[in-house]
Amino acid sequence: MVLDERPPGSGRPTALDVGCGPGLVMELLSSCLDVQGIDADPEAVRASNARGHRASVARAEELPFKDRSFDIVYCSYLLLWVDDPAQVVGEMARVARDWVICLAEPDHLGRITFPPELGVLDEMLVGSLRRQGADPMIGRKLPGIFARCGLEAISGVHASMWSSERMREESEAEWRSLTGSAGGPELADIRMRWDEALSAGSLVQHNPVFYSIARKPQYGQERLEQV
Ligand SMILES: C[S@@+](CC[C@H](N)C(=O)[O-])C[C@H]1O[C@@H](n2cnc3c(N)ncnc32)[C@H](O)[C@@H]1O
Repeated sequence: MVLDERPPGSGRPTALDVGCGPGLVMELLSSCLDVQGIDADPEAVRASNARGHRASVARAEELPFKDRSFDIVYCSYLLLWVDDPAQVVGEMARVARDWVICLAEPDHLGRITFPPELGVLDEMLVGSLRRQGADPMIGRKLPGIFARCGLEAISGVHASMWSSERMREESEAEWRSLTGSAGGPELADIRMRWDEALSAGSLVQHNPVFYSIARKPQYGQERLEQV
């Protein structure tokens, strides 16, 4: 089935959010883009639609849209979960008219954690992600993936700033994912030392997050290059 890709015209650029999850990024971008999303998880699609966004169930590997359907096709925190990221980026490029953008993919093997005795947390998190089927070093692979898809990308790493409060909030999801994988007294001891470092103001946890932005060669240009 090929879905209707063009929302009722507003004059704004059209965009597709691939692996949109519950629609948080669509929410941020919907004031300047006519954006819709797809996700493999029906629950995520329901959550997106409940927020008032247009989302449907589909796999990133087989987008149910015609070639060149959207001005912009983007994803975020998707590629770490897919088996063949180059296939997904290639599929994104197929349905994009102009821009192919990976907004954010983390690189957990590039984490900086201080004090050093808390580095064991990084190993636990990487192990837990691998067990769930994720690629913990997808971030650094982005430039190569775009190049393999014939896309000339600008790539980089997002800058980051942190405060104790923010670190506490953002780490809760990680702690939840670790509870159950390691659990027990070992984790409780690390958590105590983590809390101490946070209270002392010495805790640093930086997880690099990469991006890649590419503009597709335009039709005329593609034709010229083939001549
Ligand atoms: C970590 S969430 C990111 C959600 C959203 N992009 C964001 O940044 O908030 C990853 C999402 O990708 C979806 N996903 C994973 N593999 C997928 C695939 N092969 N095709 C489509 N969606 C997929 C998951 O269901 C999940 O909703």
